[in-house]
Amino acid sequence: MQLHLSTWQEVEAYLANSKTIIIPVGSTEQHGPNGLIGTDAICPEVIAKGVGDETGIMVGPTLNVGIAQHHLGFAGSMAIRPSTMIQVVKDWTDSLRLHGFEKFYFLNGHGGNIATLMACFAELHGERSFAGAAGSNRPGIQCKLRNWWQGPKVNAISKKEYGAAEGSHATPSEVSVTYAAYPEAVKDVPMEPELAPRGGFTDAEDYRRTFPDGRIGSNPALASVEVGHQLIKAAVADTIDDLNQFKG
Ligand code: NI
Repeated sequence: MQLHLSTWQEVEAYLANSKTIIIPVGSTEQHGPNGLIGTDAICPEVIAKGVGDETGIMVGPTLNVGIAQHHLGFAGSMAIRPSTMIQVVKDWTDSLRLHGFEKFYFLNGHGGNIATLMACFAELHGERSFAGAAGSNRPGIQCKLRNWWQGPKVNAISKKEYGAAEGSHATPSEVSVTYAAYPEAVKDVPMEPELAPRGGFTDAEDYRRTFPDGRIGSNPALASVEVGHQLIKAAVADTIDDLNQFKG
């Protein structure tokens, strides 16, 4: 079930039986020579839709611009600051909890969002904790962060198909997921060198200098629609297992 394809009456009826919503969260940033700029948002969006279709759990809109200042040296990349993201997530959850949503499951597609989302959850959960024994008049909420790639079924496929070529940015796994979702966007581009360099970075200029084509440690030329379909299926199953624990 998707929020943006529902009527308010359908959402009201849903809330009579469930307080859980999945929020896909990603980024709009370069993903190397053959990766789509929307990769980190497309992956959790597609997987969340699969979870919603299979379980009936509500899926909210995708927060599709994230913490990506280090990618701003590449055309088309967009970023918000950590302080902005905290405010946006607070406003999104404040809106939804007015109507009765209490459990927020953030399905994430971008490693750079993790630290900020955890800080945001500490703020959200702290609102009632700081109110003390007298209690807060705001309804309690629970937030959880889950990265789409962290489940055992997904890991098994990535390891088997790509091994050391997986790398850490513009990975063949994430590119495969986007190719399965949008086969019309598949790009055949040679990689030079085949395996991208590894290492750390600070700001956008440093990133561009260290990783000239945008990739880190990966060879996304190995990406395919077929593996993408396998990964989506695996990620939906991994996410449902984890979500069932969160729902209680
Ligand atoms: Ni990515």
